[in-house]
Amino acid sequence: MEKLFFLLSGEHPELPAGEVKAILEAHGLEYRVVESRDQLLILEAPQEACEIVARRAALCFNCGRVLFESRAEWESILESARGAPWNLIEGKSFAVRVKRVKGSAPQIGSQDLQRLLGDLALRYADTKVSLEKPDVVVQAILTEDVLVAGMVLATVDKKQFLERKPRGRPFFHPGVLSPKASRVFVNLTRACPGELLLDPFCGTGGFLIEAAMIGCTPIGVDIDERMVKGALRNMRFYELEGELLRGDARKLPFTKVDAIATDPPYGRSASTKRTPLPELYRDFLEETAGVLPSKSYLVVAAPSDLDVEKLAALAGFRIMEKYSVRVHKSLTRVLYVLVR
Ligand SMILES: C[S@@+](CC[C@H](N)C(=O)[O-])C[C@H]1O[C@@H](n2cnc3c(N)ncnc32)[C@H](O)[C@@H]1O
Repeated sequence: MEKLFFLLSGEHPELPAGEVKAILEAHGLEYRVVESRDQLLILEAPQEACEIVARRAALCFNCGRVLFESRAEWESILESARGAPWNLIEGKSFAVRVKRVKGSAPQIGSQDLQRLLGDLALRYADTKVSLEKPDVVVQAILTEDVLVAGMVLATVDKKQFLERKPRGRPFFHPGVLSPKASRVFVNLTRACPGELLLDPFCGTGGFLIEAAMIGCTPIGVDIDERMVKGALRNMRFYELEGELLRGDARKLPFTKVDAIATDPPYGRSASTKRTPLPELYRDFLEETAGVLPSKSYLVVAAPSDLDVEKLAALAGFRIMEKYSVRVHKSLTRVLYVLVR
C-alpha cells in the first residue's frame, strides 16, 4: 500500500471523491481514506490504483504518490520537503506544477514554491528540469491551509469528454447529460470491464457510450422507437457495440444484468408518456430489483422533490450514497447509488 493523492475536479464537493472510491471498489482494490480536502483525496492504496482511476474517471485531473505534506507556511514546507523521497525522481527529468485550490494559501507564491521545490529536487537527486517534456511531473497542491506535493503517476484524459459532446453526434435530444456526467453515473455503479450494464431509459445512448468506452457491454432500452434507432446510430458513430431494444423499463425482457445506470424522464425536457412520476419510479425500481443480483448497484437520478428513498426501500434497495446537483433555479437533481 502506498500513500496516493488524487487531484479532484471542483465541480461538486463530494462526487469526485465518490467516483474515485467507486472505481477502486469496481476493481476490487482495497483502500483507506487518509485525508479528504477541497479537491484533494489522499488514500492508502496499491499503486496500480492510479492507472485504473485515470483510465476511467471523469472528475479527477491526476493522481500519484505523495512526496510530502506540510502546513502552507514556508518554514514548515522547507522542513517537510527536505525529508521527501526525492530519490524517486533520480535519473529522470522533472517539472513542478502548482495547483492552488480556490485561492488557498495566498501567502505562498506559485513561482516561489515552484523554484523552492525545483531546487530541493536538484539538490537531493540526480535529476534535471524539463519544462516542456518532463519524465515526471511533481504536482504541488495548495488546498485549505496545507500543501501536498506528489509525483504524478497517471493523468486523466479530460479532453475526450469535450470531444464527445452530444451535439456532435448524429442523433441529439435535449434530455441528454454531458459525457462527463454520464461517465460518473457509470462509474458509480462499480461496473467492471466485461460486465453487462443496462440503461432502461437510454434516450440518445449517452450512458451506453460511456459504459462501452470503459469496456462494459451496454444494453439500452427505451420506450420510444426513435430514441432506440438514434442511440444505435450514436453507438455506431463511435464504433461501439451494444444491444438496443424498444421496450418499457417497467417490464424488462431480461433475467440478469450486472449493473444499472439511468436517468429517467422527469416530465420536463423528457416525457414520462403521461405516467405520474412516483408511479414510474416505483414500477421501474421494482422491475430492476428483479434483474439485479444481490450486492449489485443501481445508479439513478431523480428530481429532489420525489421520495426515492421510500420507493427504493419498498423495492428492496439500500441507499449507499446520495449526491445533490443543482441544475437550475427550479430543478435539483439527486443522484442515488442504490444496492440490492
Ligand atoms: C432523460 S431521457 C434519457 C437521457 C439519456 N441518459 C441520454 O443519454 O440521452 C429519458 C428517456 O426515457 C424514455 N422513457 C420514458 N418512459 C419510458 C419507459 N416507461 N420505459 C423506457 N423508456 C422510457 C424517454 O423516451 C426518454 O428517451
